[in-house]
Amino acid sequence: MQNILAPSILSADFKVLGDQIRQTEEAGAGYIHFDVMDGIFVPSISFGMPVLSSIRGLTGQVMDVHLMVTEPVRYVKQFAECGADIITVHFEACEDLGATLEAIHACGVKAGISIKPGTPVESLVPYLEQAEMFLIMSVEPGFGGQAFIPESLERIRTLRDMLEEKGIEKDIEVDGGIYHSNVAEVLKAGANVIVSGSGVYKGDIRENTTGFMEILKAY
Ligand code: DX5
Ligand code: ZN
Repeated sequence: MQNILAPSILSADFKVLGDQIRQTEEAGAGYIHFDVMDGIFVPSISFGMPVLSSIRGLTGQVMDVHLMVTEPVRYVKQFAECGADIITVHFEACEDLGATLEAIHACGVKAGISIKPGTPVESLVPYLEQAEMFLIMSVEPGFGGQAFIPESLERIRTLRDMLEEKGIEKDIEVDGGIYHSNVAEVLKAGANVIVSGSGVYKGDIRENTTGFMEILKAY
């Protein structure tokens, strides 16, 4: 499985957003992680369709949209039209998760399911075939810059084992509190798509990205 870095632009400097995203691409990051918050599913509000439209096509990176939104099925079509390549919804936010995944696929986009730190990994079992990616939150969703919850490692392992037992090879993404110092543990536990906001965008973006890519390639 290929290891991929997905820098979260939540921690970027929005007055020079395009420049900063380009630096991550040039240093090897394959994805742009795009965090949408509605102020209801999570306490904060971030950004949405107009920002996505304006950065689409800026680079060749995959647009990885993480919807921290109640009943995200309402917005799937619009995010797909604005340039999402992957749309991840929260298990906890959907009344009918199966139908939400179908709506994502109907737009020709890959579907991901995210679980918050308190949600049992086993909740994903009915959907292991239907979704393309599984996102384990390693902080409570809502804000960048929080500390990695150590119990997340065991959750990643459990999910990777569950997938392997069924012979399913799919992406496990992990999001929250990941830096150069702990990314190796996250990869070792079985994740292959690494989100990092502060770890990439705070400080020297090129250097931070290159540092992550070296560790990702070594695994
Ligand atoms: C948190 C978001 C994350 C966040 C990660 O709710 O989903 O993607 O930007 O930021 P860091 O890497 O700073 O924890
Ligand atoms: Zn995210």
